[in-house]
Amino acid sequence: MNDVLRRELEYHEKLYSGFAQAHFARPAVRALRRHMVGRILQLTGAGAQSRVLSMGCGIGDTELLLAPHVREVVGVDLSPAAVRQARADAARLGIGNAHFEEGTTAQGSFDAVIAIFFLHHLPDDALAELPGRLAEQLGRGGVFYSLDPSRRRLSGVVGRRLVPGLMKKYQTPDERELDPETTAALFRNAGFDARVEMYDFGSSPLAGLFPGWQWGYRAARAVDEAILRVGFLRRLGSNFEVVARRSLESSQFHEVMT
Ligand SMILES: C[S@@+](CC[C@H](N)C(=O)[O-])C[C@H]1O[C@@H](n2cnc3c(N)ncnc32)[C@H](O)[C@@H]1O
Repeated sequence: MNDVLRRELEYHEKLYSGFAQAHFARPAVRALRRHMVGRILQLTGAGAQSRVLSMGCGIGDTELLLAPHVREVVGVDLSPAAVRQARADAARLGIGNAHFEEGTTAQGSFDAVIAIFFLHHLPDDALAELPGRLAEQLGRGGVFYSLDPSRRRLSGVVGRRLVPGLMKKYQTPDERELDPETTAALFRNAGFDARVEMYDFGSSPLAGLFPGWQWGYRAARAVDEAILRVGFLRRLGSNFEVVARRSLESSQFHEVMT
């Protein structure tokens, strides 16, 4: 295991030893997760027949909300504590089509791959080689969806000024904000049709700061919908999405695999 993975593992084992479970169960964070799942379904087109891989799934709270809408979800995460929690929650909720594995990759082919707050934890070289690997795992018309903090986000500038300690607490030593277009270009170079969308402006950071305030989150989300229609403000949004689709023609690998 390299040094970055070791530090990621150390940080997340602590995070998932109680704090994350309690924080992610709060009403505003649950509302954010439900919104994310709606957005994933809308942008990927995943549905009842889809097999979905989630990279860096954490404790699987998003994946367990996604599972009823798809055929199967496989979540993979470096952290044994996260995977234990995800499996326990799946069993408690009686969700049989969500499976969680420890590690950095999963075997097999998928219709969709999602990566929620994951890419920005990968070192540059691992990030650069990921799209080529995913191109081999995604089938005809298969789709990749990611959500990550933008390097241009206004909330980052404000957060570093007002609550620098809190920003540090929620970040691993190696993570960094990503440039949206540069990230999408990595997928284009690997043969995907990739586009960037902006997910939010202030609503997700608000849910993190006030996790008990569901109505505050809902109101902020409604404000975000208006703000994100304004071009220059959208550029300063907090978290960007890459939606990258494998073109229908280049699917030889999948056909060999299935
Ligand atoms: C910011 S957390 C996001 C977790 C989850 N997707 C969520 O939305 O809460 C990043 C996750 O990626 C995992 N991780 C970091 N590097 C990884 C790697 N190379 N392979 C697999 N998982 C990794 C961490 O253990 C952590 O659970």
